[in-house]
Amino acid sequence: MSPPATTSGAGSLTPVEPGGTGVGTSGGGALGPLHGKRVVLGVCGGIAAYKAVEVCRRLADAGALVSPVLTEGATHFIAPLTFTALAAEPARTSLFGPDGRGDLASPVPHVALGRSIDAVVVAPATARLIGSYSAGISSDLLTATLLATRAPVLICPAMHAEMWEHPSVQDNVALLRRRGVHVLDPAEGRLAGGDYGKGRLPDAHEIVAALATVLGHRSGPLAGVTAVVTAGGTREALDPVRYIANRSSGKQGYAVAAELVQRGAAVTLITSSPLAPPAGTEVIGVESAAEMEQAALAAGDGADVIVMAAAVADYRPAVTADQKLKKTGAPVTLELVPTADILAGLCARRRPGQVIVGFAAETAAGAELVALGRAKLAAKGADLIVANEVGTAGVGFGQDASRAVIVSEHSAEDLGVVPKRVVATKLVDTIETLLSPAASRRPRDARCQTPDAKGRN
Ligand SMILES: Cc1cc2nc3c(=O)[nH]c(=O)nc-3n(C[C@H](O)[C@H](O)[C@H](O)COP(=O)(O)O)c2cc1C
Repeated sequence: MSPPATTSGAGSLTPVEPGGTGVGTSGGGALGPLHGKRVVLGVCGGIAAYKAVEVCRRLADAGALVSPVLTEGATHFIAPLTFTALAAEPARTSLFGPDGRGDLASPVPHVALGRSIDAVVVAPATARLIGSYSAGISSDLLTATLLATRAPVLICPAMHAEMWEHPSVQDNVALLRRRGVHVLDPAEGRLAGGDYGKGRLPDAHEIVAALATVLGHRSGPLAGVTAVVTAGGTREALDPVRYIANRSSGKQGYAVAAELVQRGAAVTLITSSPLAPPAGTEVIGVESAAEMEQAALAAGDGADVIVMAAAVADYRPAVTADQKLKKTGAPVTLELVPTADILAGLCARRRPGQVIVGFAAETAAGAELVALGRAKLAAKGADLIVANEVGTAGVGFGQDASRAVIVSEHSAEDLGVVPKRVVATKLVDTIETLLSPAASRRPRDARCQTPDAKGRN
């Protein structure tokens, strides 16, 4: 088995609530996460360019050393002098003119800038900038710096809804995400010209909080909490080219991971999904149930919260051929053997205070779905089971919506048909309650029994 690949998740960042971003200098005088960080603030020629002034001011207030870089387009909307007055360095607008160098001694300003910084944030990012960056076209100081730097990059697209939804823009954004660029999705709301839709630049405090998250800062009610989330369906190899799999996409696990990150938890995401992972997660890529088990047991020991959202295969081929199986024309009988029960294994070695959540994908509904969830809860010894319907059109595997019930020992919260991110929000609400000091005094370990001890499995 090859060791799982570990990467840091880029991808979508979720906007935070107004106020309390926790990224400035704290009242007690402690330095915030942006203090002393060298940040290029890229500003493009969009109607939201005026909001970049507030971003610049907030970054400076948080102690960041801001180098504003404006595109030529941006200068039609906002004056460089405004940024120069607020930032640590004069605003730069040109790759070739003297102002491109600013106070850099280097004759190659974009390379010098790219090497010297801790992060780049582009707000607003126009469709033009996103297209040039994804295509690797360096046509001005900002795109040249983006290509020259190896520092983390956060882009904040803003444009009319029609532009944002255009497949070219969506493809370019997806490509950047796959390459590890962090993207703060535009908000829905009033747009220029009296229009309404998705395309607004999020508020300055959300952009600054997102940048702090990119730089590893954690704040929120779950700051200090470590969580492990599994996502996706596993693949069990028959031979080097064929496998047995299921239709799980990983969307639900990713939504849970994103919600935990947003509330400040340090999240390890163990995933078999090809989707771009949520920003701020530590990602371990796996393929088979055995790899998922190995990664989950290793990461789970140190975690306060474990959410097993992955659809792990119950069976795998007894034998994996090392050569491609030949077509003979005769019927083939496959022998399948059970895979390890990862959830039961995690519960059996649970340490005090740990919260463990399982998922049950069932082709059942209503009271039967709740009963199946409750049976799984008891059999595994988990704190919560999210029982969700699969096999019904529009919900479950691969879909954006779920029909789910959160089942605990004494309750069953029926969420109805809701987006998976709502399931994630409700689930993390419940997890927070279980993690509260009052809940942690309860003898949770008493619920952790092996299936055999309960005689139900
Ligand atoms: C009034 C006005 C508003 C614009 N707003 C946006 C916008 O919000 N987002 C966008 O991607 N392009 C917008 N554009 C188009 C860009 O200004 C144009 O694509 C320009 O080439 C972008 O240059 P830059 O990316 O170098 O800044 C706007 C153009 C005008 C005239």
